[in-house]
Amino acid sequence: MLATATIAEEIQDLKTQRRAILLAHHYQEPEIQEQADVVGDSLELARIARNFEGDVISFAGVWFMAETAKALNPHRTVVAPDRDASCSLVDSCPVEPVREFRRAHPDYAIVSYINTSIEVKAESDILCTSRNAVKIVNSIPRGQPVLFLPDRNLGNYVQRQTGRENMKIWQGTCIVHATFPARRLIEAKMEHPHAKVVAHPECPESVLALADFVGSTSAIIDWCDASNAAEFIVMTESGIRYSLERISPARRFYFVANENCNCSECPYMKLNTLEKLRDSLLYLRPRVELPKELMERALAPLERMLAVN
Ligand code: 13P
Ligand code: SF4
Repeated sequence: MLATATIAEEIQDLKTQRRAILLAHHYQEPEIQEQADVVGDSLELARIARNFEGDVISFAGVWFMAETAKALNPHRTVVAPDRDASCSLVDSCPVEPVREFRRAHPDYAIVSYINTSIEVKAESDILCTSRNAVKIVNSIPRGQPVLFLPDRNLGNYVQRQTGRENMKIWQGTCIVHATFPARRLIEAKMEHPHAKVVAHPECPESVLALADFVGSTSAIIDWCDASNAAEFIVMTESGIRYSLERISPARRFYFVANENCNCSECPYMKLNTLEKLRDSLLYLRPRVELPKELMERALAPLERMLAVN
């Protein structure tokens, strides 16, 4: 406990010395969220990164989020606690097949989820997050065909919400959300019959069909806060518990184990530790370094997204 307190103090001192901001995703461990200047979902954190005026962005999340912050801040230093904090969606979508698709189908608008590599972003027409995906797809002229990538479940959800027929969907999945079985959710509902069900759109359709609310991590937190219910079954990564309980200490939040880890934790997000975070601020490593031309090409679809929402 003393060691944790000391590392936390070091982090706060380093932030001041470096003129740094610490951005943390909701899926980070509580001890990391406690040190953060802002905790948010991927859209909120991208917006904060875009408006930052200090010297260093320390991004406690996964690597694609740090890359996004770098594309928005090419002249600033962006560090993250662990270079190996990837994402199964990023890994499911290498850039070469996306380039091939673009060559073969120049008429398609490529809508890429922010959970993609910087190379894939650079091949995209517009980006989206789980918070604004429906709005972004609706912003594309109805007659234009769309390739949505890489998340199959989010893509199918967006297609159902928009009623869009001319939409191809990549077949990537999130190892955390896609492996939540509806069967376990049904068991949880039987155990907690008064609980409302909230779910992230990366969950399978069979889970989303049972949800009272579907939304991004921050949208889930806001919805629970505004709800009259006292109990919630939460179908997303369990790091969100920290914010849910901080905002509503009297309410109960239940998490359902998935079939990947028999838990509801993202193994990539959980690679980050307080020690690694301190070291990244101390040594300014691992640091996001990207070719200028690649950042410029990725910035265009990112800015298009931020202009829509
Ligand atoms: P949010 O856009 O809701 O932050 O989600 C990011 C993510 O990685 C979900 O698994
Ligand atoms: Fe990627 Fe899923 Fe982890 Fe989110 S929870 S970072 S989508 S693997």
